[in-house]
Amino acid sequence: MADAAESGAAAPGENILVAEEVTKVFPGVVANDAVNVEIRRAEIHCLLGENGAGKTTLADILYGVYQPDDGRVLLEGKPLELHSPRDAIEAGIGMVHQHFELVPPMSVIENVVIGTQARQWLDLTEARRRLEEFFADYDVEIDPEAEVGRLSVGEQQWVEIFKTLYFGVEILILDEPTAVLTPQGIEELFRILRRMRDEGLTIILITHKLKEVMDLSDRVTVLRRGKVVGTVDTADVDQRDLARMMVGRDVLMQADKAASEAGEPVLEVDEIHLESDTGRGSLEGLSITVGSGEIVGVAGVSGNGQNALFDAVVGVRHPASGSIRIAGQDTTESAPHRIATLGVASVPADRIAQGLMMDFSVKENLVLGNQRERQFSRAGILNRGQIDAFAAESIDSFEIKTPSASQITRTLSGGNLQKIIMARELSGQPQLIVAHQPTRGLDIAATEYVRRRLIQERDRGAGVLLMSEDLDEIFQLSDRIAVIYDGRIVAVTEPDATTLEQIGMHMAGASDTDQGSQ
Ligand SMILES: Nc1ncnc2c1ncn2[C@@H]1O[C@H](COP(=O)(O)OP(=O)(O)O)[C@@H](O)[C@H]1O
Ligand SMILES: [Mg+2]
Repeated sequence: MADAAESGAAAPGENILVAEEVTKVFPGVVANDAVNVEIRRAEIHCLLGENGAGKTTLADILYGVYQPDDGRVLLEGKPLELHSPRDAIEAGIGMVHQHFELVPPMSVIENVVIGTQARQWLDLTEARRRLEEFFADYDVEIDPEAEVGRLSVGEQQWVEIFKTLYFGVEILILDEPTAVLTPQGIEELFRILRRMRDEGLTIILITHKLKEVMDLSDRVTVLRRGKVVGTVDTADVDQRDLARMMVGRDVLMQADKAASEAGEPVLEVDEIHLESDTGRGSLEGLSITVGSGEIVGVAGVSGNGQNALFDAVVGVRHPASGSIRIAGQDTTESAPHRIATLGVASVPADRIAQGLMMDFSVKENLVLGNQRERQFSRAGILNRGQIDAFAAESIDSFEIKTPSASQITRTLSGGNLQKIIMARELSGQPQLIVAHQPTRGLDIAATEYVRRRLIQERDRGAGVLLMSEDLDEIFQLSDRIAVIYDGRIVAVTEPDATTLEQIGMHMAGASDTDQGSQ
């Protein structure tokens, strides 16, 4: 209290940053629609909302990236006109974006100092001293001399955060900072953010994850389709309340799932090596098995070989050594279309590049691929009635938002593109489903639907290889969990036999023998 009084600034609990009727329009979409948010000094305030709700746009306005079309921003009661992030930083507002703005070949110190010192001479000694103090004080183990490009994404994020603090900001905005972290990394981040808050920093954290809001925030403002649904004290609500605010109706929070026994193996990957020649990662002797009627979840920090594993199983790239068998047949060298005919459904993470013909109609994309085209044709003649009926049913059951089945696919949103792929791939009663980030970018309702469908497919007898960076999803859906690290599976376990922490340790590269000593 005394501190705030001394500084003459707003005391804890008073409004420090306020958005008043802020409106921002992009072509075709009102990203922020008369948004009112009051951020109090020294609180952790979450901005919660589904993809596209307008969270990043609002933060970018508070950070001077965009100017509002209407409304205004007040800092300590005074109107604030920001023309650039530089203005924001001068006003004491810093932001760490989802995509970092670091210079990879430069050292940590250089990255921190760049931009703070307008002159040509950089005082690295002073910077090193302050940075080392920060790191020691907050127990963050980063070498100030390390080249940023060699740090993990989690460490790079710390550099971004400390760079902002080095500027001396009073308000720190973080846009979805946990996406690049392991569970331990998230815990460490939250621990430090709480401490920074206790020391007087005001923190605005953007997230679409309810659990993070509950774990961290003092208050939360929920956005839906560009509008503020409400601001509440976190202590007064639970996850269900927040989900209802986010989505606008009641939602099921848990995917119900009965126990299952794995049957015969449908996928046997044995010691495969794959070179990293395409920028999609390498595999270093990876083995994994998926039985019929089971979901095997592959957990891992992105960039540890998930793309390569996906490519190898669906036949886009072939391993240099090792073998892959699908439904008992050797497919190590098989082409994708042959693998598809064995009853393999693939849901790629990069749906635009790999899963869809963007200039085809929605209907055409729904029946794309050999196997499914055969369902709809006899003696080479397509059965249009059947295709139309199938398209109508898919659009209906997956709630694909499109003006019509003949709409050009390119015009649909990301979530709807994913639904087209899911509808198509699951329609052929596959034996094996290879799904990479199947719910990334989907809204809660679509996420629920996709998860339920994967469980239904498993119950029908399909084997599912589920690669996801969402650990809640992995724990909810998997019968077995495999952890991928550095191109290998480093641990296989069952959800009931492990904890989030243990999985996180493996994701960070710890072996079982390390765990006792931690
Ligand atoms: N630079 C831009 N140009 C056009 N549309 C944009 C731009 N930035 C965001 N949008 C649109 O504004 C809406 C809100 O986006 P965003 O603020 O990024 O949401 P969130 O961060 O909550 O996911 C979305 O419909 C998005 O497509
Ligand atoms: Mg965003």
